[in-house]
Amino acid sequence: MKSIDQVDLENKRVLIRVDFNVPIDDQGNITDDTRIKAHLRTISYAVGKGARVMLASHLGRPKGKRTEKDSLKPVAKRLSELAGKEVAFLDDCVGEAVEKTVGAMKDGDVMLLENLRFHIEEEKNDAGFAKELAQLCDVYIDDAFAVSHRAAASNTAITDFVKVCAAGFLLKDEIEYFNKAMGNPERPLVMIIGGAKVSDKIGVLEKVIEKVDVLIVGGAMAFTFLKAKGYEVGKSRCEEDMLDLARDIMEKAKGRNVKLYLPIDSMIAQQPTADSEAKVCTIENMPKDWMGLDIGPATITLFSEAIRDAKTIVWNGPLGMFELEPFSKGTFDLVHAVANSGALTIVGGGDTDTAVHQAGESSKISYISTGGGAFLELLEGKVLPGVAALEACGGNT
Ligand code: 3PG
Repeated sequence: MKSIDQVDLENKRVLIRVDFNVPIDDQGNITDDTRIKAHLRTISYAVGKGARVMLASHLGRPKGKRTEKDSLKPVAKRLSELAGKEVAFLDDCVGEAVEKTVGAMKDGDVMLLENLRFHIEEEKNDAGFAKELAQLCDVYIDDAFAVSHRAAASNTAITDFVKVCAAGFLLKDEIEYFNKAMGNPERPLVMIIGGAKVSDKIGVLEKVIEKVDVLIVGGAMAFTFLKAKGYEVGKSRCEEDMLDLARDIMEKAKGRNVKLYLPIDSMIAQQPTADSEAKVCTIENMPKDWMGLDIGPATITLFSEAIRDAKTIVWNGPLGMFELEPFSKGTFDLVHAVANSGALTIVGGGDTDTAVHQAGESSKISYISTGGGAFLELLEGKVLPGVAALEACGGNT
């Protein structure tokens, strides 16, 4: 895979596929701009090299319809502030008017195109649409790791129509850190996996059990494992149809000498609300009408000790309902333990990065992935179509 610093950008029309799929509230305010910031390095590099930069992204799932709430306009404004330079906004991403505006761009200009998914062809990986996008540029840069598990026109088919294709710095970092952690890791390799449902993580569990030295399971999904071991779990979330799979994972762990850690106590309540009475309970004594919403203090100690000698730690999924203050301690304490472990630490997937930021430890984590689904699919060992397309055209310059 070629990277942006290996191609000539000067005076070139450069289309950068970014993932600006950020949360925007009803007033049009961006409530989390992490993903915008993550692309700044690639964008400023291209500007510094004298490129005419077009940024293309999706936002939401408008399914081919123009909707105001899915417009990227607020992102252009935020990006201008972050980049300290005007970012023009175009109200479409293909067509004659767009081509004309692009034709008038000067070196160093930056322009954000409207949501690619306003065209249904984008998600269909349509060759005709990809060709229209390709027509806008001389060089194509893919920096959108977070959408690379989708085969879309703007990250897959487009590589058939642009002669010079390369990865941006963000995409490159994502793949490199992941490979460092899961490809040829310094051991012991510890995986912390949490979140609500085992069923969401079947592929990940089956894959990582073959690689890790230590597997720590927390979050609501731990109760499916505990039930499979014969414990009563009260009203805790538990997937009855996943009990066999949980047993199978535990068997495999034993067979491979993987140390598997489950909670030994829990912070329980009768309702998943911040004002419910909460108390600590050992896993052997879960009351019938209560549910586990966080790991308890003994588990925090156990899990923290389990990562003490780790050389590599990969974490996906929170260990409790950390968005509610009474049930946040387990996740936050583990964030502190991971951040100060001295290991290579990679965190990815939806809520886990939010927890790291809220715990104020983001600067101490080696790498926080911008990918949710894409990060999970990498963990499952799947080929990401966006990355595969870029690799396939690696020698094209
Ligand atoms: C994400 O937010 O995970 C990516 O931008 C992909 O979005 P999607 O799930 O709507 O394809």
